[in-house]
Amino acid sequence: MANVVIVGAQWGDEGKAKIVDLLSKNADYIVRYQGGSNAGHTVNANGEKYKFHLIPSGILYPGKVCMIGSGTVIDPKVILSEMDHLTERGVDISGLQISAAAHVTMPYHIIIDRAQEEMRGSKKIGTTVRGIGPTYADKSARNGIRMQDLIDPTELLEKLKFLIPEKNIMLERLFGLEPLELDAVYQEYVAYGQRLRPHVFDTAAIIWQADKKRKNILFEGAQGTLLDLDHGTYPYVTSSNPVAGGACIGSGVGPNFIDRVIGITKAFTTRVGEGPFPTEISGKDAKILRAEGTAWEEIGTTTGRARRVGWLDAVLLRYAIRINGLDCLALTKLDVLDDLDAIYVCNSYKDLRNGKTYYELPAESNFLKYAQPEYVGLMGWKNEGKSSADARCVEDLPKGALSYVKYLEKILEIPITIVSVGPSREQTIVLEDPIHGPKRVLESEVVTM
Ligand code: GDP
Ligand code: IMO
Ligand code: MG
Repeated sequence: MANVVIVGAQWGDEGKAKIVDLLSKNADYIVRYQGGSNAGHTVNANGEKYKFHLIPSGILYPGKVCMIGSGTVIDPKVILSEMDHLTERGVDISGLQISAAAHVTMPYHIIIDRAQEEMRGSKKIGTTVRGIGPTYADKSARNGIRMQDLIDPTELLEKLKFLIPEKNIMLERLFGLEPLELDAVYQEYVAYGQRLRPHVFDTAAIIWQADKKRKNILFEGAQGTLLDLDHGTYPYVTSSNPVAGGACIGSGVGPNFIDRVIGITKAFTTRVGEGPFPTEISGKDAKILRAEGTAWEEIGTTTGRARRVGWLDAVLLRYAIRINGLDCLALTKLDVLDDLDAIYVCNSYKDLRNGKTYYELPAESNFLKYAQPEYVGLMGWKNEGKSSADARCVEDLPKGALSYVKYLEKILEIPITIVSVGPSREQTIVLEDPIHGPKRVLESEVVTM
């Protein structure tokens, strides 16, 4: 039995959903702990493609309990349409449980998100415009509506009577927008609440009981480490805590619940939205990394925006290993590198202000403005006449591809336990058991002669 956290080690879209789907097979409970409908998760299973924003990717296995924890924010329209869509496709959603403490994204949050982005002009964050920042802001300001309020018509009306006039002042006077009508919002959202009611639970208490019965619990992070509100590239971040520590807060368990933390990273780097990206590239190699024209082309699942692409950044990954306490990594999209002549990895940064070299990310938030990546070039495996996408075991991998994996393990000092070579379930090579196999050796445990 083991309780495991899955966390994105970069700027999101690392292929978390594919790995969660894979590991869900042996889990009893899958718990999403933060974020909202800003997430876009794609799973390819049984020859079909499924896209999720809120529902945990483990839903595709019958009989699992799929929870959406208290640290998430829920757009009722989005979750209901996801539920309908899955039901239409024959997926059993009876195991879906939503925390009564999760906050609700209301229509004014989405309008305010858009208006704030417009007001920021050239300083915009490039949000997904799903109302995420304003929903979490209301939660912190203690002005939020929670799932338990949404399913209680009296409580919902009480809250809206106070909140709608307040939001209308903001909409009209600050942004020059049309006000919202209390009755229209109430009628629409009370109906959503009644539809969602059978799925609302005290999820933290259920997890506690499940742990007593020695069930396997998989905690699913959305977004990624560098988008974390506290530990990411602030202010170009999301408004929640995707890092592993967020799993405890966002699902209501203590830190001693967690047995293992698995980080997911692409074999290169992508980012959607604004903000620093030291290893970003354009040109011929960028087209290959973006996988233009393929079914897995780097286009945001939620917003349809082209993802920015670049080389793998070991400095940022070392940071992700530290901030999350990662035990091991799953490396995805190795197949995308098949067509490259040469592959580059940023192993350190040079500070352009003083020439100093950094292997780890310093705390200064403006540092990345002055960080020049220092690359190590590796030979591609294009000429080996073998595609990593066809590999089903480590022996099948092109030699160059395996060397790349081994090189990363060495410079990052962490085991890579899973290598993903394509979007489908079958295109996965498990090098070591990610849950019970080897994990990062702590420095204090290294025996020096
Ligand atoms: P998430 O947000 O971290 O769950 O990742 P997304 O689902 O947004 O983006 C990952 C995309 O890459 C999806 O389209 C996946 O189907 C696809 N994908 C995942 N793993 C691999 C892989 O190893 N190779 C390729 N070519 N595509 C992959
Ligand atoms: P998954 O779970 C990639 C980015 C947005 C923007 C910033 C803030 O699929 O990995 P927000 O709407 O959250 O206020 O936007 O965060 N962002 C993501 N980027 N993957 C995601 O989720 C993201 N969710 C938010 O593009 O830069
Ligand atoms: Mg995604």
